[in-house]
Amino acid sequence: HPGGSLYERIGPQALSALVTRFYGHVAAHPDLAPIFPADLTETAEKQLAFLTGFLGGPPLYHERYGHPRLRARHLPFAITPARARAWLACMNTALRETPDIGEAEAHELYAALSRVAVHMVNTPEP
Ligand code: HEM
Repeated sequence: HPGGSLYERIGPQALSALVTRFYGHVAAHPDLAPIFPADLTETAEKQLAFLTGFLGGPPLYHERYGHPRLRARHLPFAITPARARAWLACMNTALRETPDIGEAEAHELYAALSRVAVHMVNTPEP
């Protein structure tokens, strides 16, 4: 669907595979793992629901959980610039491991997530 939303161009299967790979990297990252729950199943489900709507697909997160209030939801966690970079690095690796997602789509998705990640930073570098 070259003219459709980023969600349509990526497709639900590739998006789900991406989110699974992404949290695999988060779980293995020494600076990120400590602020995440040990079991990332629910986190991954919520992220997949969020990204589905964020990329122009059905608003699954809103339907299931209400308004995301992303910045407020992240305030309990110390998100430093280094953690934002680490989060994006995990996403970049996961994108490169998901060849079903084309170059253009990967680039657009990464750029959109980079803009959101900046707004999640709530703690200066120690
Ligand atoms: C939840 C960290 C960026 C979307 C969370 C949680 C943590 C976290 C620790 C809680 C996990 C849980 O309790 O289940 C981070 C860090 C980021 C970041 C370190 C670096 C900048 C982002 C971005 C997005 C995002 C850019 C959106 C594109 C979400 C969503 C949830 C979540 C949808 C689930 C919220 C819920 O509980 O309903 N994040 N996050 N995060 N994050 Fe992030």
